[in-house]
Amino acid sequence: MDGRPRQNPAYRRTRSVQETPTGVSCSFRMSPGALPWHPMMPSGPVETSHPWGDEATPYLEIGGEERVRALAESFYDIIEEDSPVLRAMLPANTTNTRRKLFMYLSGWLGGPPLYEEKWGHPRLRMRHFPFTIGDDEAAEWMRCMRAAFDRVDIDEPLRTFLDERFSQLALHMRNQ
Ligand code: HEM
Repeated sequence: MDGRPRQNPAYRRTRSVQETPTGVSCSFRMSPGALPWHPMMPSGPVETSHPWGDEATPYLEIGGEERVRALAESFYDIIEEDSPVLRAMLPANTTNTRRKLFMYLSGWLGGPPLYEEKWGHPRLRMRHFPFTIGDDEAAEWMRCMRAAFDRVDIDEPLRTFLDERFSQLALHMRNQ
């Protein structure tokens, strides 16, 4: 144990659930309705198979590093082409933004935790505090991510799985 207050439900939601990078602790118990901090975590008490497909992780299912990079790149291409609302929040040059999303997704999908290795703990919700994120912004983020799924040909059942888990995370980023 690391001495953190694991029994406190508020802690579970804001820290353990959202901000833990990768690796599933055996002692972790999902409280009902809590947000899975990692897409491979069960979303409820009964989830025995891999809902994303045959491979061991969503990272392998999507096809590894180049495919994860293609998803992150396509997502920001779509924002730059077609989402003035999200584009306005981003810096003029999105090279680093693209790279960070790729590195984050690598670990989040069960592959190498590249983001954590380089920058440490993501503290993702906190990093989004400077931006106004309500229902509309979360929905727009998901619209662009779904268009990226189309562009890189993400098929079922991975698609439904990712849609669900990205949606949970996008809603969790709301601060309005
Ligand atoms: C809900 C709507 C969301 C909005 C409006 C939003 C917007 C933003 C903005 C404006 C930035 C800063 C970009 C920069 O300065 O370079 C950012 C950073 C980031 N976002 Fe989001 N985001 C959303 C959801 C998400 C979700 C669901 C994820 C994960 C799947 C995510 C992952 C990241 C990452 C990894 C960064 C880089 C953090 C860093 O600076 O180290 N975002 N986001």
